[in-house]
Amino acid sequence: MGKGVIIACDFKDKEETFRFLDKFENEKLFLKIGMELFYSEGPDIVREIKRRGHKIFLDLKLHDIPNTVEKAMKSLSNLNVDMTNVHSAGTIEMMKAGLKGLTKENGERPILIAVTQLTSTSQEKMQNQLLIEKPIENVVMKYAENAKEAGLDGVVCSPLEVQTVKKRCGDDFITVTPGIRFEEDDKGDQVRITTPKKAKELGSDYIVVGRPITKAEAPINAYKKCVEDFVG
Ligand code: C5P
Repeated sequence: MGKGVIIACDFKDKEETFRFLDKFENEKLFLKIGMELFYSEGPDIVREIKRRGHKIFLDLKLHDIPNTVEKAMKSLSNLNVDMTNVHSAGTIEMMKAGLKGLTKENGERPILIAVTQLTSTSQEKMQNQLLIEKPIENVVMKYAENAKEAGLDGVVCSPLEVQTVKKRCGDDFITVTPGIRFEEDDKGDQVRITTPKKAKELGSDYIVVGRPITKAEAPINAYKKCVEDFVG
């Protein structure tokens, strides 16, 4: 599985995004575009970034009835992104519908991964608000297995969950892992964090890195260090 560093472009608008990207000159990057930027700028931001030759993980976390997710994915398939995602909680049927909508007539499609339980959901919140009684680790693994059954390519998870996910879903099941910090970094709001080196040791396929690169004094150096430590 291709190892790669994905930079989380958590910027409010196009100006801020391109001010950041311009620092990298001709470097071809893999960028995560999330709801904030996509909802403020619309699909044009994706087209513009693609035109610059970067790869895109469109992180919109779709979750709706299967028919709606299928149609939404069909719209997104025209953007030719490289990776996108849905919520595993939407059921196996919804994930299958998403996969169908995303696949073009010639069979081509981006990598499709599932979000399991968001890291902001604690055991306590899951029990008290969602009435899910099982341990959160079991829920995450079940959601990963459901994604595999639906034919998806992998999941977003913590680097600390990679080995169990691979054991349950196979070595080629892709793990995309946020929560990355350098040893010397401020943790921000991330609780369970791992360094790029540790994520590599744990077998993660892609790391998603936001603030340690976007807020660094020298973003290029921070990015290069991530690549060096994770890809080697
Ligand atoms: O700035 P930082 O490196 O914490 O950014 C991590 C990125 O990964 C953010 O865009 C965040 O929304 C995303 N993410 C995460 N944890 C998850 C899923 C996504 O941090 N479980």
